[in-house]
Amino acid sequence: MQTIIITGATQGLGYYAAQTLARQHYAVVLAGRNQVKNENAASTIRRATNNQHVYAMMLDLASLASVRQFVNAFASRTDLPPLLGLVNNAGLQIIGPTEYTADGFEMTFGVNHLGHFLLTTLLLPHFARQGRIVVVSSGTHYPDDPFARALGVLPPAYTTAGELAYPEPTTRKLAVTGTIRYATSKLLNLLFAYELIRRLPALGRADLTVNAYDPGLMPGSGLARQQSGLLKWVWTNVLPVLRLLPGVGSVQTSGPLLAGLISDPAFADVRGKYFYFHRPGDRREKPSSPDSYDLAKAQDLWTTSKQLVAEVSVMKKA
Ligand SMILES: NC(=O)c1ccc[n+]([C@@H]2O[C@H](COP(=O)([O-])OP(=O)(O)OC[C@H]3O[C@@H](n4cnc5c(N)ncnc54)[C@H](OP(=O)(O)O)[C@@H]3O)[C@@H](O)[C@H]2O)c1
Repeated sequence: MQTIIITGATQGLGYYAAQTLARQHYAVVLAGRNQVKNENAASTIRRATNNQHVYAMMLDLASLASVRQFVNAFASRTDLPPLLGLVNNAGLQIIGPTEYTADGFEMTFGVNHLGHFLLTTLLLPHFARQGRIVVVSSGTHYPDDPFARALGVLPPAYTTAGELAYPEPTTRKLAVTGTIRYATSKLLNLLFAYELIRRLPALGRADLTVNAYDPGLMPGSGLARQQSGLLKWVWTNVLPVLRLLPGVGSVQTSGPLLAGLISDPAFADVRGKYFYFHRPGDRREKPSSPDSYDLAKAQDLWTTSKQLVAEVSVMKKA
């Protein structure tokens, strides 16, 4: 048996990926910020799959201290089989006023990118050989994604990682700013994934694979939870009708496909790819946006992220 850690598996895409992996007889760690919701999800999956090796562990990606505590708690467990996979799935979109993490970073940057950056880099020594990392991105990272535009999500805007962590006040509408930050965070996921691959040999883990996944538009998921009443209603009740269109999926179909990137032997030696399948049996990959391969942006993101997590660690000790 081997262990898979998946962030944000209380509901949505992560929940269905975790359920699939539990069915495939992995030990699955649901890493989540709400212990009650997380434990409920774990026990539902245990019952549904008859796999008792499904565990809920506390991880709040909006707190770097929580990320460190999670990794320490994980490393000290002696009941878990070797770590095969990490799925960086948790994500949020802020529609109202700017929110900040416990460490003072803009929330979308902090949760969707920085918390996962620290989690992944701290976990590297704990992987078994040939481990796999999958990062969940989104079509919204393209500057011209038709679904994103139709839903009012604006294109990503990478300035500098420092500015994204501590954004200047803006006069734009809050919802508009929120969607730009979300799309930008999904670009950061890709910049991080590709930079991680380049750095793995120097980090002593050239054996690991890293790939990115775009689950397609999944109307009905919790991602629109901060939207206004009408938009949320449309997201939950109207948009699911579009599932027959290419590019539109569901958490129930994309979750198992995400799980396959960790468990399917076909992906064992595949690295640096951007997959976008959301129909059973699909194996499609394509280039992500030109910006996602920008080396200068990737290096800025990596070095700034490293500094930010180190500064917080020093401040906590002081
Ligand atoms: N929905 C779409 O159309 C779509 C399209 C493309 C990509 N994606 C990506 O798919 C991924 C999953 O999204 P989803 O649609 O399944 O959304 P969802 O239903 O809202 O699920 C998000 C998950 O992330 C968790 N989470 C949020 N903040 C967290 C934090 N600070 N620490 C730990 N966990 C946290 C949530 O936990 P709680 O239960 O505690 O809130 C929940 O389990 C995201 O990365 C998203 O960007 C979604």
